[in-house]
Parts: sequence; structure tokens; C-alpha cells
Amino acid sequence: MSARIAPSILTADFGQLADQIEMLVAGGADMIHLDVMDGRFVPNITFGQKMIATVRRLTSLPLDVHMMVEEPERYFEEFAGAGASGLTIHVEAAPHLQRQLSRIRELGCAAGAAVNPGTSLTGIREVLPDLDLLLVMTVNPGFGGQEFIPSSPDKVERARHLLSEGRSRAALEVDGGIGRDTIASVWRAGADTFVAGNSIFSAEDPRAEIGVLRNICSETV
Ligand code: DX5
Ligand code: ZN
Repeated sequence: MSARIAPSILTADFGQLADQIEMLVAGGADMIHLDVMDGRFVPNITFGQKMIATVRRLTSLPLDVHMMVEEPERYFEEFAGAGASGLTIHVEAAPHLQRQLSRIRELGCAAGAAVNPGTSLTGIREVLPDLDLLLVMTVNPGFGGQEFIPSSPDKVERARHLLSEGRSRAALEVDGGIGRDTIASVWRAGADTFVAGNSIFSAEDPRAEIGVLRNICSETV
């Protein structure tokens, strides 16, 4: 199985959004990652339903929506209606995680749970039957272009264990500081889906960078 690359448009130039999405599609992106931030769960504010709908019109690729928001359930319906393919919520903002995940599935989206670097994986075990994607954050969320946290591969390895033990087929995604120097370590640890923002958009050839990242994985045993 080859690595799935999910470029994050957080660092894209929104003035050239159509061109940038076209570039990501041409470069072979497997999905587009959209970072919704509410200025409460994380300090930063980004975008919401309108951006999801806009990107939906620009590509038929799956839209992987990462909800860094409090009370995420308030937005499930409108985001699903806008064309999200998957909705990932943070366990830190989800006291009723099982109910929230099953609601996401009911709306026809893939149900994702994200854990911050300081959050234990323990609770995830309880919701494995309701989970389509587990996102292990490799930075503290809020901004693009941050440094990959070095202890992340160890956590990814434990997350992979948990999924295999529970016979879960959920995707295992990593997000934050993923680029040429870090992707192999988390691929080796068992991640299969890789969000990359800064490393793609600041590359000399952003379109080619998607393939470069994927190839690093296929060349790493
Ligand atoms: C971080 C976001 C990420 C971000 C990744 O809060 O969840 O998706 O866009 O950006 P890079 O790849 O630049 O760390
Ligand atoms: Zn993200």
C-alpha cells in the first residue's frame, strides 16, 4: 500500500485558490485537508463551511476536514452538506465522542478522532467500532509550519498497535511538521495518511513535492 498524501491548504494563497487546488490535483494528492479553527479550541481562526463548499466545487478529491473547534457537533450538518468527505474532531473537545462519531457516519462522512500531542490514546480504544480515521497530531494544532515533535513516531507506533489489536481498519493519519526529513519516521511507525502544508507549499516545485513525499515512503521499509 502506498502512502496517502493529504495536502493542507492552510498555507495556500487563497487569492489563487483555484490554481492551487488544480496544482495539488495535478501533483497526485490523494485528498485535500482543510483546517477549520475557531479561535477557541486553538488560538487561530481560519475558515468554515463556505471554504469547504468552494473547494468542493474545485475538485472531486475527498475533502478531509480537520475540526479544531469546540462543540464540533454544531457544524456537522452544514459541513457534510457543503461536501466534506470526512470530519475529524478532537477528543479534547468531544465529551460524547461515541455519539459524535456515529452522528458523523450517519451524515455519510468518514468519522475521525484526533489526539493532541499531550493526549493519551487510551480513550480511543473505546470507540474503535465507530472510527474511520485516527489522527495523531505531530504538533500542537493551531498553525502551519511548526516543528515536528520528535516523540511522535513512538506514539504512532502505539496507535498502530491499538488499531491492529482491535482489528480496526481505520486510517492512521499524522499532521504537523511532515516533510522530507520526518515522513519516513512516521511511515515506519505505521501511519498511512500524511498531512503536509508548509513542506509542499514552500517547496521549490510544490506540484512535484507530493510525489517526492510519497516516494520517500515507498523507498522506506
Ligand atoms: C496544524 C494543522 C495542520 C497544518 C499542517 O494545526 O492541523 O494541518 O496545516 O501544516 P504543516 O504541514 O505546515 O505543519
Ligand atoms: Zn490539520
